[in-house]
Amino acid sequence: MANSSGDVPASARKLEGKVALITGGASGIGECTARLFVRHGARVVVVDIQDELGARLCAELGEGSASYVRGDVTIEEDVAAAVDHAVSRFGKLDVMFNNAGIGGAGCHNILESTKADFERVLAVNLVGPFLGTKHAARVMVPARGGCIIGTASLASAVAGAASHAYTCAKRALVGLTENAAAELGRHGIRVNCVSPGAAATPLATGYLGLEGEAFESAVEAVANLKGVGLRVEDIAAAVVFLASDDARYISGHNLLIDGGFSVVNPSFGIFKD
Ligand SMILES: NC(=O)c1ccc[n+]([C@@H]2O[C@H](COP(=O)([O-])OP(=O)(O)OC[C@H]3O[C@@H](n4cnc5c(N)ncnc54)[C@H](O)[C@@H]3O)[C@@H](O)[C@H]2O)c1
Repeated sequence: MANSSGDVPASARKLEGKVALITGGASGIGECTARLFVRHGARVVVVDIQDELGARLCAELGEGSASYVRGDVTIEEDVAAAVDHAVSRFGKLDVMFNNAGIGGAGCHNILESTKADFERVLAVNLVGPFLGTKHAARVMVPARGGCIIGTASLASAVAGAASHAYTCAKRALVGLTENAAAELGRHGIRVNCVSPGAAATPLATGYLGLEGEAFESAVEAVANLKGVGLRVEDIAAAVVFLASDDARYISGHNLLIDGGFSVVNPSFGIFKD
């Protein structure tokens, strides 16, 4: 439990001594997760293409706890170098959080989607996690352990929630998660992903074209779990759980963080006040 100043008492820290790499760590879910990881005792390498935000975040978290590396997850050399940086700077890599993503609003309408837009979304949202998984495994296999987590989406479980390219990428990311869990389990490496509903980040507000209260009420209107609202902190908490030893026997899992949305078809309407 964090106290009011955000510190987690030493006895409650879930990631003490662990080293994590977070792609897309300069903003939104990745930024919040980087902050929570550090509070839980981890040292983090933040990888992003938003240099100013990433560097400022790491300066705030402290040189001993965080290090920013510019890296485009679609470029294999960048991903490999970021993993190597984690090992040279902090000595090892325990947790790889393949989180960087883009929304792909340009691929909403199948007739208007271009091949280039479609491929760009797959490159960031699927090829990126593939490269992250590959290079994390490169250092985790010899270490005989580690944990790889991807950020998929509600779109991995429900149709009509996002663009075609985004949906394809996130569904395939679940496939990659399961297949990598199948291969890497024998090396003691766990592979999981989280699938959030909508939380207010630049990606999500940009995708819906709504900010602030307008965003919250649009999401609340279709939510199954009413009066709660998904925050980036909820997603970060789930990632801390999966990264921690509390989840030591969980692998190949897609953890939906959607308030039950994906398992309910409200059109039956049988539950009424
Ligand atoms: N916010 C939501 O509602 C929501 C829901 C489900 C899934 N997700 C997923 O969560 C992840 C994080 O998104 P977010 O909502 O925090 O958005 P965000 O825009 O705040 O963060 C995404 C980060 O990824 C970085 N990024 C983009 N392309 C990159 C690249 N090629 N290389 C390196 N970094 C790159 C961006 O610079 C940004 O900092 C994404 O994978 C997204 O698909 C978000």
